[in-house]
Amino acid sequence: MRPGHTPPKQDATISFDDALEAIEEIPSNRSDATPIGEILARRYSRRMLIKMGLVAGVAATQTHPLVAMASNTGAEPPAFDLQGTTHGVTADTAISPDHIPQILLRWGDPLFTDVPEFDPLKQTAERQAGQFGYNNDFIAFFPLPAGSNASDRGLLCVNHEYTSTGMMFPGLGHFSDQGFLDRVSEEQAEIEMAAHGASIVEVTRGPDGRWQFEKSSPLNRRITANRTYMRVSGPAAGHRRMKTRDDPTGKRILGTINNCAGGVTPWGTYLMAEENFNFYFAGEVEGHREERNYRRFGIGLYGIYAAWSRFHDRFDINKEPNEPNRFGWIVEVNPFDPRSEPVKRTALGRFKHEGASPIVNTHDGRLVVYMGDDQRFDYVYRFVSDAAVSPHAAQNENLLDEGVLYVAKFSETSLVWLPLVFGYGPLKPANDFHSQADVLIETRRAADLLGATPMDRPEDVQPDPRTGTVYVMLTNNTHRAEGGENAPNPHADNKFGHIIELLPPNGDHTADTFNWRMLVKCGPLTYEHATWNAGTDPKSGWFAAPDNCAIDPQGRLWVTTDQGNKFPQTDTSDGIWAVETTGDRRATAHMLFRSPVGAEITGPEFTPDGETLFIAVQHPGVDVKDDYTAPDGTLFKGKPSFDQPATRWPDFKPGIPPRPSVVAITRKGGGKIG
Ligand code: FEO
Ligand code: CA
Ligand code: CA
Repeated sequence: MRPGHTPPKQDATISFDDALEAIEEIPSNRSDATPIGEILARRYSRRMLIKMGLVAGVAATQTHPLVAMASNTGAEPPAFDLQGTTHGVTADTAISPDHIPQILLRWGDPLFTDVPEFDPLKQTAERQAGQFGYNNDFIAFFPLPAGSNASDRGLLCVNHEYTSTGMMFPGLGHFSDQGFLDRVSEEQAEIEMAAHGASIVEVTRGPDGRWQFEKSSPLNRRITANRTYMRVSGPAAGHRRMKTRDDPTGKRILGTINNCAGGVTPWGTYLMAEENFNFYFAGEVEGHREERNYRRFGIGLYGIYAAWSRFHDRFDINKEPNEPNRFGWIVEVNPFDPRSEPVKRTALGRFKHEGASPIVNTHDGRLVVYMGDDQRFDYVYRFVSDAAVSPHAAQNENLLDEGVLYVAKFSETSLVWLPLVFGYGPLKPANDFHSQADVLIETRRAADLLGATPMDRPEDVQPDPRTGTVYVMLTNNTHRAEGGENAPNPHADNKFGHIIELLPPNGDHTADTFNWRMLVKCGPLTYEHATWNAGTDPKSGWFAAPDNCAIDPQGRLWVTTDQGNKFPQTDTSDGIWAVETTGDRRATAHMLFRSPVGAEITGPEFTPDGETLFIAVQHPGVDVKDDYTAPDGTLFKGKPSFDQPATRWPDFKPGIPPRPSVVAITRKGGGKIG
């Protein structure tokens, strides 16, 4: 990295025709990713040092475990050392016998000293705005100054993706029941909005290894859908399609919704990805002035939060026609200033963002952010900043506003990144694109016209800072028809998903073309398409529907799953697995933790010392569609609700519904996870 160096402004350097030709000519896949070696190691440690410098107020720490790791690159990452738990479906969680789970933060836990303890029968929007929100997803850990160990104290930033309404309030029943949305009261809708967004909470680890959150920390913060204003920046800020009656400037938006995964920048901010924003809008799309745009996102199809529109005109597309254009963005938050205004960064495109995973490009210091658009047949994206990352945080304030968004077009063994730049190829007035703002507001339609490759639901897209390999979780796609297969999505009716690796040439994440290769096709060992290593443990080693992932401080891959209500097909709940990626063990997995029935696991995040893994148990007890008898004989009734939940995890107290919670996992007797 060259601090302060600004590379020349990018333009669409590869012509559209050349790009289409290039994809046919890229040489075949290398079987081994080129190791980037020491340069990357220096980048990795520098990134951490920047982060540590910002966060902990220290310039450098030679003893930091990530620095030590960096000097060890080139060697094969160590294999995993864990006994593993087993598949199954139970009301409680399960964990590898050599590890310990601790419930750290539950829905409703007060995050401030003046907020009363959680009582589901006395819940109010006011209380919820001061409590931990619902359906925790992405987690980021930012170290705070501590004694000797940067992993003992930090800020936990947790997304609250959505609300499971029928599980939160008594008497509503299941969301598929007749008249469900009409029964949601105004106060309940306000509670839901206050349970969205994010929680930023100070957490500390005691000498006994147990974690607690600090209610009195001045850094604690709630970000919500109905109380937090955000600034809009980048090319779409202030555009006429962003303007509403409440915001004639098109530059100020109330709230953020459906924040799924996210990312952490090298300058110590946190990225929240707005995913299924379409669910929140009601109204008639036919004949709407944004009909083509809104149909591409499914607006008007499944307004499962459409109750909000009964109380707020902005969620009715016929009353406030531009409001949906103000969601579907990446939001940047400075967690160290609770009064800072979150910023919607429009240069990173508008789609159903699963997450946003940044990496500093070794070659020129620019930031590359990888992103997936989580829908069947949608795309993989990256953003490349124009400027190099500066070691001075303030100088990166607008780094995410200027750069180029690209979409991936794959061939047999390679991919080309096509720039989503106004004027490029078909992105012209003839196709109703009149500015870069139009291209970004309708990112999906622009990518369609460029001929991007429709994928099997791209979830996390995560670069490994040690090797440069970029892991892409493709969760499933049962709508892919016979004849619709392509190289990176090789199966019709893809029930259980797969994981591919993108290989940037010489570790250059800004290159026009990459190679790619398959890591594993998921699902039970007996599934005809599964490609697990022959040594995979049949009781715990395979998984289905990869969703989120993390690279631990030793450079090893961890994958969480989300099968939705399809778990009866695998007879196991979702969980988190350690996945081998190199050598003879490649494509062998080990199950560390299993969720309670009806939940998925999200947000894997390690402390810098690798000794704590934070995970989020999302929608426990909810995703049970039909009556289901588990392998151990337990019957779980379908269509669960507050009054009849499938589990009461984690409290297991009568009258207390299941609560989405963050779990801190440590190793028995201490030491590194896995
Ligand atoms: Fe919110 Fe793609 O999972
Ligand atoms: Ca997800
Ligand atoms: Ca999910």
